[in-house]
Amino acid sequence: MNQAQALQAVEQLMMATVESEVEVLRDASRHILAAGGKRMRPRVTLLAYEAVGGTDMDAVLPVAAAVELVHTATLVHDDINDHGLMRRGRQTINAIWGRTFALLTGDFLFTKVYTLMAPYGDLNIIFAEMTSQLVEGETLQAAAAKEGKLNRETYARIIAKKTASLFAGAAKLGATLGKGTPQQIEALYQYGFNLGLAFQIVDDILDLIADSQKLGKTAGIDLAQGKGLAVALANGGNGAQTAVAVVEAQEEDPGAALKRKLLQGNYIEEGWQQARQLAALAKLQLNTLPSSVARDELLRLADAAVEREY
Ligand code: IPE
Ligand code: IPE
Ligand code: MG
Repeated sequence: MNQAQALQAVEQLMMATVESEVEVLRDASRHILAAGGKRMRPRVTLLAYEAVGGTDMDAVLPVAAAVELVHTATLVHDDINDHGLMRRGRQTINAIWGRTFALLTGDFLFTKVYTLMAPYGDLNIIFAEMTSQLVEGETLQAAAAKEGKLNRETYARIIAKKTASLFAGAAKLGATLGKGTPQQIEALYQYGFNLGLAFQIVDDILDLIADSQKLGKTAGIDLAQGKGLAVALANGGNGAQTAVAVVEAQEEDPGAALKRKLLQGNYIEEGWQQARQLAALAKLQLNTLPSSVARDELLRLADAAVEREY
């Protein structure tokens, strides 16, 4: 089974897993899954497994599917919190079915992870660790936005937890199941972690500079809510007066004013540079692995995470 076939099998497994006699759960789950997405995280799991010498692709499929279901669940819940109306080029679940059913569909996707991961013993410890970090990250972000206190330090902590933890965990799960050495597992964990940081920084830049049509999701949300890289950069280090507060005091439309300030400054370029450095750091981790098709794919994935327009 090659990578494309394995990814196809992951799609089928996810669709089968969200089968339910309760129509709205089934339909809403299929709605978001069938819309596609980049599938970065299950790719990382599959490739990490192969990169350490794993050969039984059937054995890793449920783990890759579980990782993508968790990610998808967080998007469903995130769109409730962020009032997002478009996701993966489609209307969001909250836009079509309303907040209550969106909340429950997210829960449903989370609970399906138990089914998929049941046979995997200790891998569930890695899973539990990464998912609780993710929730911590989303919570820290909501708290920082509420208090208007997002600065660079808090931003770094938030994205490590809300995004990098899942990429790092996805890689660790694959490498552990593939019976990598402790050094290989650690290298792949670090690969995923740095890749995740880079990926989130680029996501935040795109939220600022790209339009909703291109992104396939509602753009400009972060800024409006006092979240994301741009706000953190504009706010500087600890103790700095927040840019949001400064702008709010002076301008009628704080979102537009802050956006103007950010686009005029060097913030976007600074963000790209950080993301590129992190992607390079991710790739460096792979030096310790034997050369393979999977390793080459992981290298390409790190570039793709940064050099993208949506
Ligand atoms: C969006 O993730 C949320 C972030 C952590 C940046 P993706 O950009 O991977 O979303 P999909 O799966 O392709 O829709
Ligand atoms: C999505 O985060 C959810 C998690 C990372 C857990 P974002 O709010 O940064 O992603 P988008 O921009 O809505 O896709
Ligand atoms: Mg969001």
